[in-house]
Amino acid sequence: MASKRVEQIAAHLNYPRGMLAGQTAIITGSGQGIGAEAARLFANEGAKVVVSDIDGAKAQSVADQINQSGGQAIAVPGDMLDDKYLDTLVKKAAEFGNGKLHIIVNNAGYTWDGVIHKTTDKQWDTILALHNTQPFKLVRVAAPYFRVKDGEPRNVVNISSTSGLHGNAGQANYALAKAGVTGLTKTIAKEWGPQFGVRANTVAFGHIATRLTAAKEEGGYVTLPDGEKVALGIPQKQKGAKEAGAEAFKDIPLGRPGTATEAAGAILSIVSPLMSYVSGQTLSVTGGRNM
Ligand SMILES: NC(=O)c1ccc[n+]([C@@H]2O[C@H](COP(=O)([O-])OP(=O)(O)OC[C@H]3O[C@@H](n4cnc5c(N)ncnc54)[C@H](O)[C@@H]3O)[C@@H](O)[C@H]2O)c1
Repeated sequence: MASKRVEQIAAHLNYPRGMLAGQTAIITGSGQGIGAEAARLFANEGAKVVVSDIDGAKAQSVADQINQSGGQAIAVPGDMLDDKYLDTLVKKAAEFGNGKLHIIVNNAGYTWDGVIHKTTDKQWDTILALHNTQPFKLVRVAAPYFRVKDGEPRNVVNISSTSGLHGNAGQANYALAKAGVTGLTKTIAKEWGPQFGVRANTVAFGHIATRLTAAKEEGGYVTLPDGEKVALGIPQKQKGAKEAGAEAFKDIPLGRPGTATEAAGAILSIVSPLMSYVSGQTLSVTGGRNM
């Protein structure tokens, strides 16, 4: 009887902690917002997290906070639009994961809005590159770590938006790109599911409170490879009167925007073993909007 109890305790002590224990994850755009929260939640569940972001200081800060709270993370800063960075990112992630890589979350992104007749080729090409071409290339570079038969879980999550599922005036480029990721997701699920057990899913967000949806007047911006700055956020007049409170969110059944933590929770859920038979799907995380 006593030896049985000792065995139970030993098993408990040896049991890897957390739903993602033993797994290594790349989360792009995890220097802030939804990606940073996903990094924190993944680390809490035992994953080794590779914090990838163009903003090196923010990426390092997220990795430092995870390491200080007992998790494991490294920052690998760089620009998703740079092909060489994708090679570096996968190489460093695989080193960190002792030769293994289990999860990619293609989350890095921003909007660069314009009505159709005023959208420039540069606006169009940049948004498609960032949300479609580069995530595809990242998955392609990482293919040797996903096309393996070691019986361990493998997941790709591509982040989409209600703009991709339903269209949005002023966002032809972003809507096309965010619709595109669902096709990429399903193709990964069909190519790498049968032999390698890789799951691929899309998580589509509605209104999540981050820099991307903050007031444009707050002055957030991203810098393109050629140095041009793109302003982020939603102009206040388009956002609806903030003072109007719930009125401003009346098309959302839950009556409010989601938090970055809630958004990240959905990403964690879908890569977790609790969803081990879910693949090729699009999970809408919208507070019920667009039912
Ligand atoms: N916030 C929302 O309401 C919402 C809604 C639908 C979809 N999304 C999507 O969710 C994802 C995360 O957005 P968020 O709201 O957390 O925004 P955010 O601006 O808070 O975070 C995005 C992160 O991506 C990084 N990034 C941007 N361009 C990059 C590049 N070229 N290379 C590397 N990193 C880059 C940024 O530095 C930033 O840290 C995006 O794909 C966005 O399109 C957000």
